[in-house]
Amino acid sequence: MNIAKWPVSTGREIELLRRVLDSPQWGGFHELVGEFERSFAAYQNCAHGIAVFNGTVSLEMLLAVSGIGPGDEVIIPAISFVSTATAVSRAGAIPVFVDIEPYSFNIDPRRVEEAIGPRTRAIMAVHFGGPLCEIERLASIAAAHNLILFEDAAHAQGSEWQGRRAGSFGLAASFSFQNGKVMTSGEGGIVTTNDDAFAEKCRAFANQGRDSKQPGATFFHHYTLGSNLRITALQTAVLVAQFERLDEQIALRRRNESVLRTKLSAIPGLTFQKIPLEVNRHSHYLLPGRIDANAFGESRDEFHRRMTAAGIPCTPFYPHTLYQNPLYANGVAPSRVLPSPISHACIRDAFWFPHRALMADPETIQAIAREIPRTEPG
Ligand SMILES: Cc1ncc(COP(=O)(O)O)c(C=O)c1O
Repeated sequence: MNIAKWPVSTGREIELLRRVLDSPQWGGFHELVGEFERSFAAYQNCAHGIAVFNGTVSLEMLLAVSGIGPGDEVIIPAISFVSTATAVSRAGAIPVFVDIEPYSFNIDPRRVEEAIGPRTRAIMAVHFGGPLCEIERLASIAAAHNLILFEDAAHAQGSEWQGRRAGSFGLAASFSFQNGKVMTSGEGGIVTTNDDAFAEKCRAFANQGRDSKQPGATFFHHYTLGSNLRITALQTAVLVAQFERLDEQIALRRRNESVLRTKLSAIPGLTFQKIPLEVNRHSHYLLPGRIDANAFGESRDEFHRRMTAAGIPCTPFYPHTLYQNPLYANGVAPSRVLPSPISHACIRDAFWFPHRALMADPETIQAIAREIPRTEPG
């Protein structure tokens, strides 16, 4: 199998790194950082971008800057990466875990409505694997109940809902540029927002509470309680090069995913992620699916082992819901849990292919398509 490596660099990363290394500024104050923030924010249909050193601190900044804290609840999906939950907990607030939809793997808006209570302050919408969750419904639920809508768009660089990009629907959003993401600097993250005041607060928060607009402000004047979350220019150099290739890579993954979906549409017991019709484009970060063992003739774990043996990268989904992590199960951090039968079913029968499995030449994609169906032994 001629499976692509990830991450990949070219001479462009080296060229931009050289530009930074030859300058007197390797940290977050290099002009490349501002240029990248503006261009990535515009790409996601946002007015502002505040780049930080990873996609966990960017989530934490959303909560800190909006003043969410002890006594508050934030509704999140039971299935996501741990940062979606810990960002809420680290703010001193309580994550409220709700179930996902059976085939989009994204938060179920009906379960969100059921979970709203007197302490609810916000909804954290996660776009799992790339396609947006039911973001318009979540936005109207948030508006009807006077809640803040945030987007954890860690997976959703370039993803669109009826032509409008992830990150532009809620008050603010967080993206990750961690090593496995569709554009990466090893570690990295960014907050995007269309809210001028929120952007100002984030900028100050990420930069030690500085505020250049204050009369007499200097490097050693600090006006609000912040920290140092600045991304480095070295990270940004790599990101700029990665960003330049993103559209081309999305197009390649889109073509290849469409080949796989078409060729495998009639395989009993294999269901790939359901993409809402409104999602006209997405990052193709993951290609998730579910296995109905009876119809497919093989369990998810057997499927995963067979894919691995064939050299096709495949992950057997998350091993548990977020609230089954000892952190929450043992009450180390408090939480509220709503019944999540779909999430539990997915833990048993779902899988995903990472984006590099979709970045192959046409022959390899045909070979992957041939390997996926279960073949009778002998
Ligand atoms: C949904 C989601 N949110 C947040 C993060 C955290 O990002 P980072 O690894 O950049 O801290 C990740 C993964 O890495 C993620 O998958």
